[in-house]
Amino acid sequence: MDVQLRIRRYNPDIDAAPHWETYHVTAEPSDRVLDLLHQVKWYQDGTLTFRRSCAHGVCGSDAMLINGRNRLACQYLVRDAGTEITVEAIPAMPVIKDLLVDMEPFLDAYRSVKPFLINTDPLPADGRERRQSPEDRERYEDTSRCILCAACTAACPVYWSDQKYVGPAAIVNAHRFIVDSRDTATEERLQIMADPDGVWRCRTVFNCVEACPRGINVTGAIMEVIGEMRSSGRGSAEA
Ligand code: SF4
Ligand code: F3S
Ligand code: FES
Repeated sequence: MDVQLRIRRYNPDIDAAPHWETYHVTAEPSDRVLDLLHQVKWYQDGTLTFRRSCAHGVCGSDAMLINGRNRLACQYLVRDAGTEITVEAIPAMPVIKDLLVDMEPFLDAYRSVKPFLINTDPLPADGRERRQSPEDRERYEDTSRCILCAACTAACPVYWSDQKYVGPAAIVNAHRFIVDSRDTATEERLQIMADPDGVWRCRTVFNCVEACPRGINVTGAIMEVIGEMRSSGRGSAEA
């Protein structure tokens, strides 16, 4: 089938402003939008710039605004996208070139929640692993599947209006450790979440849930973190 691909291009070195370019490619319904971008880059315009790595929905590097929604280009098939497809960089992230955005502010927010296990207790007497029940392990099963694609944070209207908001992806990764029974830094983590730009800024818009290519219940995780905040005596940002 013939597919018309409209791509929002921007090269800050030569363009005064972003502009749309239209390309025509031949595709199979089972092709992914990423395949079409490759066709353009390899056979029509080598200057087209985008990021991708695994091509199988695992690395999280090719989140883009496709047909008006944040998606992974390697997961979205032509049969679902149709024959007129628009592709832009994900919103609210500084564009480096074309579809490539600067992920550093996003990753700074991720790093700010200390996304690693902290346990200051001595090792068990046998010197082996810290044990955990299947029920406790299940508590962070969903949030441990985050691939840091940024689709959720870039879909959040609170983040659009103010990029100081730590954003749903960072909260998902805070949740991953807050509910981990082996982690001993819960108080410190909740204090990080209590920041004026932390979890209280969520307005339960749910865009993040719709955007997540891993099907993570992002808003559910945010609500669980808020529940932990309340249980620990932290009422709300306004309180
Ligand atoms: Fe991407 Fe989902 Fe992780 Fe957000 S929660 S960064 S949308 S995988
Ligand atoms: Fe934003 Fe998701 Fe909250 S879209 S406002 S982080 S529910
Ligand atoms: Fe890795 Fe799409 S290229 S998730």
